[in-house]
Amino acid sequence: MTSRINQFGPWALVTGANSGIGAAFANRLAAQGYNLVMLGRNEKTIQQAAENLTTKYGIETRSIIVDLSTEGFLQQVSDQTADLDVGLLISNAGGDAMGALLRVELPDLKQMLHLNTTSHLELVHHFGRRFEQRGQGGILLVSSTAALQGTPFLGNYAGSKSYQLNLGMALNYEMRKTGVNVTVLMPGPTNTPGLTEKAAIPLSTLPAPQMSPDAVAKIGLRALAKNKPYVIAGIVNQIMSGIGSLLGRTGGRNMWGGLMSSIVPAELRVR
Ligand SMILES: NC(=O)c1ccc[n+]([C@@H]2O[C@H](COP(=O)([O-])OP(=O)(O)OC[C@H]3O[C@@H](n4cnc5c(N)ncnc54)[C@H](OP(=O)(O)O)[C@@H]3O)[C@@H](O)[C@H]2O)c1
Repeated sequence: MTSRINQFGPWALVTGANSGIGAAFANRLAAQGYNLVMLGRNEKTIQQAAENLTTKYGIETRSIIVDLSTEGFLQQVSDQTADLDVGLLISNAGGDAMGALLRVELPDLKQMLHLNTTSHLELVHHFGRRFEQRGQGGILLVSSTAALQGTPFLGNYAGSKSYQLNLGMALNYEMRKTGVNVTVLMPGPTNTPGLTEKAAIPLSTLPAPQMSPDAVAKIGLRALAKNKPYVIAGIVNQIMSGIGSLLGRTGGRNMWGGLMSSIVPAELRVR
């Protein structure tokens, strides 16, 4: 069955398309017949992923190799997509420099802040204007349930993800009469290299089930098709977020502080 989301094609741009949730988005969209602009830093893995999807689904792909945390990346993205009818932006790439704030180096915190905020702002602004002109489009911002409270040991991350949440919520309202859908997706723990291999804190040992990246991508695309302003991925994450909000701002923070304290290595604590 053709999904309503096909209305946004023929091209979709996915950031972080070679790993985790971004790769799951790329796979789902390719299966729906989208041509893909696949963006990431690692030329080898992005091109390998693009070749695999072309072979499997017969779609067209274009790779953009760029570091989204650097100034001026947007010009490269703009130049390399100017000739394509891009109708869907999956602004997914993100990461974190984890640990108690004072245990992480300032340049690392700033690089992640740029990646998780400014890169999304620039992509959304650029493609938002293109989609407005086009009279049709979809923008999906991948935030996190960490956006919902000041999550201890992930303070910079939580703040940057709440930036994405508020940006997308506002944009969904502003663009409601333009034919452009905007949704913020908030995954909780998801079984990706970002959680299981790259994380300085062993987040995969949190006492919470991990969703599959494909299940998370499916939820995000469904919510975007319905133009929901936001969606929390999965029932367990919805319950956890509901409990957090019932406890209030400080109580929700304390709940996560307790969970995180049990897994943060000594060298990433203040004392
Ligand atoms: N996994 C979870 O539990 C979870 C939970 C909530 C929210 N999220 C969010 O979901 C999104 C995807 O996370 P994931 O877990 O799938 O992570 P992942 O497996 O580590 O993948 C991250 C992707 O982003 C790309 N990327 C990272 N930094 C980049 C940069 N500076 N410029 C360009 N591309 C860059 C990576 O490409 P490279 O090959 O260049 O590194 C990779 O393709 C993130 O925004 C994350 O915050 C994840």
